[in-house]
Amino acid sequence: RLNSVTNSQAHSTSNGYLTNSRKMVVMKEAERSKEMIKSAILDNDFMKNLDLGQIREIVDCMHPLENPKDSTIIKEGDVGSLVYVMEEGKVEVTKDGQLLTHMGPGKVFGELAILYNCTRTATVKALTNCRLWAIDRQCFQGIMMRTGLLRHTEHLNFLRSVHTFKGLPEETLSKIADVLEEAHYNNGDYIIRQGARGDTFYIIAKGKVKVTKRNSKTQEEQVIRLLQKGDYFGERALLGEDVRTANIISADAAGVDCLVIDRESYLQLISTLDDLKQIYEDDEDKAGVDSEYAKLKLTD
Ligand code: CMP
Repeated sequence: RLNSVTNSQAHSTSNGYLTNSRKMVVMKEAERSKEMIKSAILDNDFMKNLDLGQIREIVDCMHPLENPKDSTIIKEGDVGSLVYVMEEGKVEVTKDGQLLTHMGPGKVFGELAILYNCTRTATVKALTNCRLWAIDRQCFQGIMMRTGLLRHTEHLNFLRSVHTFKGLPEETLSKIADVLEEAHYNNGDYIIRQGARGDTFYIIAKGKVKVTKRNSKTQEEQVIRLLQKGDYFGERALLGEDVRTANIISADAAGVDCLVIDRESYLQLISTLDDLKQIYEDDEDKAGVDSEYAKLKLTD
């Protein structure tokens, strides 16, 4: 595995001792390979949307392989077991004997059979000696499932703890947890800009934000309120409005983490908005939202 390359190579010298400069070289090479694999994944249409945590785990699970010139690395129709990243060399990809493409360093291949549980869709042959990195199906799918499930449970637990969502049925919460994306903002970042179009809804998972509005007479920004963990904003986007009525600015030295839902996935997965609308209204009644905010909601 790539995360143990440094250690295994560090212990592989004849006297079991590695000079500091050699150690640096080995570490640099491992780092370079990691970066190369990460870029290859981000360059692959089918894998570029994996989150960075998943990519990091995949990179750490990769092991090195060498394939000699003219060897068949992947045979069309086979059950595949490895996803490859090319470090050095050149391969040709053919299907039914027809050349599809050539691939060189920094490319992922063999991902389709593993991602989509199908047989190999093409044959990949080494045109030169190839140095490759590979991850096996079990390891790859384990990462995909574990991180996916962990994330889902974490989001679901968080949603359950958010006052606003307390009354929603478990099934709806689970669907929301499915479509959530995580986003991080640095202190001072504008998460939402007044007047801009937007179709995303945010729940604060960590940190604080300022809600500000431009005074129409003085054009000065006024702070209307502070929101914190468990609070939400941008909800009007889910109800169909897309012009933002206030600024939301990250106001936390450690930055702000948000869970984000866009209107499209929300509508697609949670066809009725009534649940949420109901909760918002009830929530405001019960919580007695501060008057500034209530005014803002009525007058915008
Ligand atoms: P997989 O089907 O697992 O094994 C063969 C691989 O060839 C496949 O994954 C892709 O990585 C690659 N491949 C298939 N079709 C094409 C194509 N049209 N262009 C480039 N690469 C392809």
